[in-house]
Amino acid sequence: MGKATQDLRNEHDAILHVFEILDKMLSADVKEDVDIFKFGNELIYFLKTFADKCHHGKEEDHLFKALIARGIPNEGGPIGAMLQDHRLGREYISLKSKSLEAKDLNNFKVNAAKYRDHLRNHIAKENNVLFVMADRVLDDATQNGLFEKFEAHEETVIGHGVHEELHSMIRQWEDEFNV
Ligand SMILES: [Fe+2]
Ligand SMILES: [Fe+2]
Repeated sequence: MGKATQDLRNEHDAILHVFEILDKMLSADVKEDVDIFKFGNELIYFLKTFADKCHHGKEEDHLFKALIARGIPNEGGPIGAMLQDHRLGREYISLKSKSLEAKDLNNFKVNAAKYRDHLRNHIAKENNVLFVMADRVLDDATQNGLFEKFEAHEETVIGHGVHEELHSMIRQWEDEFNV
C-alpha cells in the first residue's frame, strides 16, 4: 500500500472513530440539550476543518488529479462520483449548522445521522475501490510525492496547533460519551 493512500486511510479511521462517538451521542437520552448543542457545534468544527478542508482537500487537490492523469475517469466515472459525494457531504454539514442556529435539535440529529451514513458509505467506496485502483496505478515515487504534498496541505490548511486542538476535542468527547 502506498504512503499517500495509507495516510488517507488513517484519516478515514479518525473520522469513523468520531462517528462512533456520534452514535453514542445520538442514542443517549441522558445528555442535556445544552450538551448536545455544545457537541454539535464542536462536531461541525471538526467536520469542516478535518473531514472537509484537510481530508477532502488532500483528495480533491492532489490524489484525484494524479488519478485523472493516470487515466481514471472523472465525469461519469469514479472520481466524478467521489466529488459528488463530497458536495453532498458539504450540504449536510450546512443543514446541520442551520439546524443548530435555529436551535432545532431534532433536525440536527436527523441531518447528523444522514451525514454519518453518507460518509461511512463514501469511505467504504474509497477504501475498497478507489484506493485499491490508486495503489495499482500510482508507483511509489508518485505516492511519496503526493504524501509530501499532503504534509504541506496540512501545514497550510490546518497547522500543528489546530491539529492538537482537534485531538484534545476528540479525547474530551471520548470521556463525555464513554467511547
Ligand atoms: Fe473522499
Ligand atoms: Fe476520503
